[in-house]
Amino acid sequence: MHSNKLAILCDDPAYSERSQAMADQLGVSLYPVVEKFTPEDFFLTYRDGCLKLLDKELLKKGGLMVDIEPRHGEQRSWPAPKEGALAQAIGRKTRTVVDATTGWAQDSLHIFRMGYELTCIERSPVMLKLLADAFLRLEQLSWVKNLTLPVPALLPGNAIDILAQLVSAPDCIYIDPMFPPKRKKSALPKKSMLILRDLLGDDMDREALFEAALQATAKKVVVKSPDYAEPLGGKPEQSFKSKLLRYDVYVKN
Ligand SMILES: C[S@@+](CC[C@H](N)C(=O)[O-])C[C@H]1O[C@@H](n2cnc3c(N)ncnc32)[C@H](O)[C@@H]1O
Repeated sequence: MHSNKLAILCDDPAYSERSQAMADQLGVSLYPVVEKFTPEDFFLTYRDGCLKLLDKELLKKGGLMVDIEPRHGEQRSWPAPKEGALAQAIGRKTRTVVDATTGWAQDSLHIFRMGYELTCIERSPVMLKLLADAFLRLEQLSWVKNLTLPVPALLPGNAIDILAQLVSAPDCIYIDPMFPPKRKKSALPKKSMLILRDLLGDDMDREALFEAALQATAKKVVVKSPDYAEPLGGKPEQSFKSKLLRYDVYVKN
């Protein structure tokens, strides 16, 4: 992360202690208000009862939080049906999944809602703050409480190191690193993904991450990739296509 790009914004006194603690932990500035000349580009702030990420464009609009609601069209029962390209790639025989690149957790939360036993890894300190806030909100959802579902464990750090130290090998390791965008139509056009790229840049160590995942998995690695990108680990055993992207499946021999 380019830490000079980030600051904490606290415009609600109810959150001043938490905001100060977060600024101290991340080693960044804290502001009561953001002005045009404020040097940072991104801001973490508590708004509407949750932690949000803003850029200057989003300051007045509201900001981005990790959305814990089911996707449009997804069945709201638990476990949700294992349908669609992501579920096909992960497979029905899979029980345990590690998401090594959690990001905004939209894939993680989908995997969780389909009933897989999930562990999440993320290395960006900013995303970790947003994820921790989201998993607390997830824990409070009535269906999660009623079913006494444990929310996914969130492991902070570089997945290349963490995967090498896992106590038990998961059935599936899922990776969705940031690929360089194509000039025209991109598979990641959403504001949440654009802001992530601006904040973190591309994941240049994605090949090393793939190798670490293949070493650490018990059965398979699933790589999400934009449709224009070469498969990360060479020819996959299987590939499931969705809109503008692919899930490449590599089976461990
Ligand atoms: C494209 S985003 C993932 C989006 C995610 N699948 C979703 O549904 O929101 C990539 C994320 O993976 C994280 N990441 C990439 N390489 C990593 C690594 N080696 N270890 C831990 N996190 C990593 C980045 O910090 C970023 O937050």
